[in-house]
Order: sequence, then C-alpha cells, then structure tokens
Amino acid sequence: MGAAGVDYDGEISKQYEQGRSLSPAAVSTWREAVGDLIPDTGLIADVGAGTGRFARQFDLLAPGRVLAIEPSSGMRGSAQRSHPGQVIWMGGSAERMPLADSSVQLVWTAFTAHYFDLAAAASEFARVLAPGGQVLVWHAFPDIFDGLEWFRWFPTARALADQQGVPSAQLVQRTFEDVGMIFEGRTEHHMRIADDMAVLADRLAHRSISTLSLISDEDFEQGLTNLRAHAAESDGGDPVYAVNVMLRFRA
Ligand SMILES: C[S@@+](CC[C@H](N)C(=O)[O-])C[C@H]1O[C@@H](n2cnc3c(N)ncnc32)[C@H](O)[C@@H]1O
Repeated sequence: MGAAGVDYDGEISKQYEQGRSLSPAAVSTWREAVGDLIPDTGLIADVGAGTGRFARQFDLLAPGRVLAIEPSSGMRGSAQRSHPGQVIWMGGSAERMPLADSSVQLVWTAFTAHYFDLAAAASEFARVLAPGGQVLVWHAFPDIFDGLEWFRWFPTARALADQQGVPSAQLVQRTFEDVGMIFEGRTEHHMRIADDMAVLADRLAHRSISTLSLISDEDFEQGLTNLRAHAAESDGGDPVYAVNVMLRFRA
C-alpha cells in the first residue's frame, strides 16, 4: 500500500492517464504559469511525477533535461509504457532523491506535498538544488478546496481530504523557509479540467483522484449518478475549471 492508504501500484496507476490527463487548455494555462521560470540550462526534477503528465510538458520546454522521480513502480511503468520518450525516470522519493548535491536547477512537485515528510523533503530539495535554483510546489491546498467541483458530488471524499492533512500553503512556506529557501510568491491558476459536467463525470469515473479511490464504492457510485443526472438535466456546456496553486521558492 502506498502513500496515505492510496495504492499507486494498483488500479490507480492504470487509470491515471485517462482520468487526469491535461487538456490542451490546461497545458496552456500551465505554460503561462511556468514558462518564464524554466532555466536556460541545467536539470529539472519532477518529484512524485506520477505517470509524467507534467514531466512530459517540461520536456517539451527543456528537451532532454527532465528527470522524473517517482516511488511507485506502477506509476513509473504506466508512464513508460504509454509515453516512451526522453524523460529520464528514476525510483526515489522527495525524502530520498537519487541525485547528487547541487545537481538540479529546478524542482517541480505537483499534488504530492500531503504524502511527504515535509521537513525531510525540504532538506532534500535544498541539498539537490544548485545555488539560485528554484522549487515550484503545485497543489490544491485546503484553502481552495471549496473551488473543487468534484467535492460537491462526493462529500465523503471532501471529508477525507479535510482529514488527510493536506498541508496548508503557509506550512509549506514555513517549512521551506526553515531550510533556508526564499519564498518568492504564490499564484493561482484556473485549469480547465473538463469541457462540461458530463465530461467531468466521465473523467471522474476513472477514480484517479486519490480521495475518490478511497471512499466506499457505494458513495462513489452515488456521487457519480448524481453528477450524471445533474449533467443530463442542466448541463449548459460550460467548461469546468479547478484552481491550482503554485508556490515559488529559491535556494
Ligand atoms: C496525486 S499523484 C501526482 C502525480 C503527478 N505529480 C501529477 O500531478 O500527475 C501523487 C504521486 O506522489 C507519489 N508519492 C507518494 N509519496 C511520495 C514521496 N514521499 N515522494 C515523492 N512522491 C511520492 C505517488 O506515488 C504518486 O505518483
């Protein structure tokens, strides 16, 4: 069993790509967020890279310079089967990265901070970063949970997320500052996650959001039924967005 009860070596690794792939609109929002922050030279480490949906985007901007570090062999295997390419995959974790001191220019980590021993991860990021290097922490922090559409339909998933202890953005900031990193700012990004509510239901049906993989099958089916009924009755074809937060730090 993997992090916080989620078995990333199991079914979720097979469903992740379909349930959580980035739409072209989301890619474009992400590029606006990070485009100016890509270093001209040096390595980029995507920590907790999952099946590589962000690592592959980094690779398009910085070809051949992207290391994807991921503890789950299931997620790594799924990534390498579906998208063989030049991203370099490595087993490892935020707390133990298979990288030399001062070897990386940018650390990126998305939707992972709740799995970390945060203080150990902060120290490890500080160790591998070259002087002046950056860390980008991308997450749905608790202060934006109310803006996540799927929690409306799966209240037990929301309750679980509240209990799971996703660290606050402030706690991440303090922990990273404690190892000497400089906080450079917080930005919010509205990622288009579905073309409409029916498409959202189709994506959520893959159960590739960790809290949806942990609630009971009954709660999951009920939420999906309610969401599909709502989509059938009132879907105006409006796209669905999710707010993501990015915290920027410099070594
Ligand atoms: C919600 S997924 C996010 C994957 C990817 N970053 C993305 O946004 O698609 C969380 C990932 O964190 C990984 N993970 C769990 N514990 C970790 C740790 N201590 N260090 C690094 N990654 C970890 C899991 O195996 C999983 O692939």
